[in-house]
Amino acid sequence: MDIYRVTKESPKWLFKAYDFARTDAFVFGQNIPISVEYSHDEPIGDDYKAVVIVDDNKPVAGCKVSFPFPEVGKIGRVCVIREYQRKGVGKILINEAEKWIREYGAEKIVINSQDRAQKFYEKQGYNLVPGVNPRDYEQITVDSEKDIPRGYVPAFHPQGFS
Ligand SMILES: CC(C)(COP(=O)(O)OP(=O)(O)OC[C@H]1O[C@@H](n2cnc3c(N)ncnc32)[C@H](O)[C@@H]1OP(=O)(O)O)[C@@H](O)C(=O)NCCC(=O)NCCS
Repeated sequence: MDIYRVTKESPKWLFKAYDFARTDAFVFGQNIPISVEYSHDEPIGDDYKAVVIVDDNKPVAGCKVSFPFPEVGKIGRVCVIREYQRKGVGKILINEAEKWIREYGAEKIVINSQDRAQKFYEKQGYNLVPGVNPRDYEQITVDSEKDIPRGYVPAFHPQGFS
């Protein structure tokens, strides 16, 4: 199993690998429309960071890493392809993202999670903080915010985000 830290300079196939994992896990696995899944991606700039896992030359998992505040790292868009779920890959992915965040000296890590993944994150040592607005930890520009379909989150996840 190969673990990659992806930045703006990484080879293009790694971005495609991550997109494949997202498409499999979210679009096919959770019926999220592909237009929604990719509608609010920020452009790949200097700050872009993602962890991608490849097994046997096939993309199997990925997540994004960002720093909404200098002392706070954030892990997001965590996905493992359906065929590989519940085999320990998600744990490896989170461990690598945490390692990377710690190397930047961040003191805290936040994750805006779907309710269905709550148990997974609790197993990785995270605590639920109810009532947090996920947008508090997003780096959103005025332009990109216009494109976010606001009805989407409550419609698919009635209990909101953890
Ligand atoms: C949620 C997800 C990232 C977990 O990754 P994974 O590779 O399936 O999880 P792992 O096999 O590494 O599991 C690690 C531990 O969490 C547990 N776990 C994983 N998913 C769980 C779930 N949905 N409910 C309860 N426990 C779960 C595992 O049983 C395992 O427990 P153990 O350490 O006691 O053996 C993955 O299943 C996935 O991508 N799902 C679809 C997309 C998604 O929900 N992403 C999260 C969006 S916020």
